[in-house]
Amino acid sequence: MPDDQKPKEAKEFCTDILQETEGFYLKGCGSLDWGMKNRMAGIFNPDSGRTVMLAIDHGYFQGPTSGLERVDVNILPLVPYADTLMLTRGILRSIIPPSVSQSIVLRVSGGTSILKELSNEDLAVDIEDAIRLNASAMAVQVFVGGEHERQTITNMTKMVDIGTRYGIPTLAVTAVGKDMERDARYFRLATRICAELGAHYIKSYYIEDGFETVTSCCPVPIVMAGGKKIPEYDALTMAYNAIQEGAAGVDMGRNIFQSEAPVAMIQAVNAVVHKNETPDKAYELFKTLKEEC
Ligand code: R5P
Repeated sequence: MPDDQKPKEAKEFCTDILQETEGFYLKGCGSLDWGMKNRMAGIFNPDSGRTVMLAIDHGYFQGPTSGLERVDVNILPLVPYADTLMLTRGILRSIIPPSVSQSIVLRVSGGTSILKELSNEDLAVDIEDAIRLNASAMAVQVFVGGEHERQTITNMTKMVDIGTRYGIPTLAVTAVGKDMERDARYFRLATRICAELGAHYIKSYYIEDGFETVTSCCPVPIVMAGGKKIPEYDALTMAYNAIQEGAAGVDMGRNIFQSEAPVAMIQAVNAVVHKNETPDKAYELFKTLKEEC
């Protein structure tokens, strides 16, 4: 029967249209609850499936490190170009305007400084405060192979349990001790342990040899940590390679805020992550934007 001849009631109830159930675009996240998925969608752009996380949480163990001396002056101009801010509750409450649309990944582990053994961390934020701050995820440092390996892994599993109760994902941040080998075997081990124990997504450093094996055998999304400052072209190349080798985004700090032109750099990183821009083109963009800054 043509549409306009349908009884009014059949039209309103759309009885001939099956309700569609949307799949979920993030690896390994299809079985999460609605709130978790909604928060993950606030971190990972649904169009690209990727994220540019701006990491500015270094002060929690390093104090006012280079580039983060004045977050209000130097970091706020970068915020519009990030999908997500990764930071502590102290900086969030004191400096970040509550009107920002970027999602918040809250650093929830801590308790040590660069003056002592870094792996000796505890959970340093209560779930109630994470909820109060409208966190989209909670970040916990995990030192696989470190002196306090067990303690940091159980910090993470506790946060996974507590966060799951309230629909807040946990980001496991794989931290590598100074004397440890940063190779594919190590990162496969560390990221897989975090995923097996419930982390919803995982931050890993990039390695030139075998990064694609790290992303392929980790059942949840991996974001690439930036690491220490390197030349802009090299940082863009590293981000490009990580994305092409399966990373679902970057969680970058020093290579953005310690750049000679941070506002230009974050836009170049954004182009690599969301538009698959090559390192050459992204570096051209960086240079052009740098001139305009
Ligand atoms: C360090 O422990 C923090 O978690 C940083 O967020 C992380 O290292 C990423 O920042 P960067 O790109 O500077 O390494």
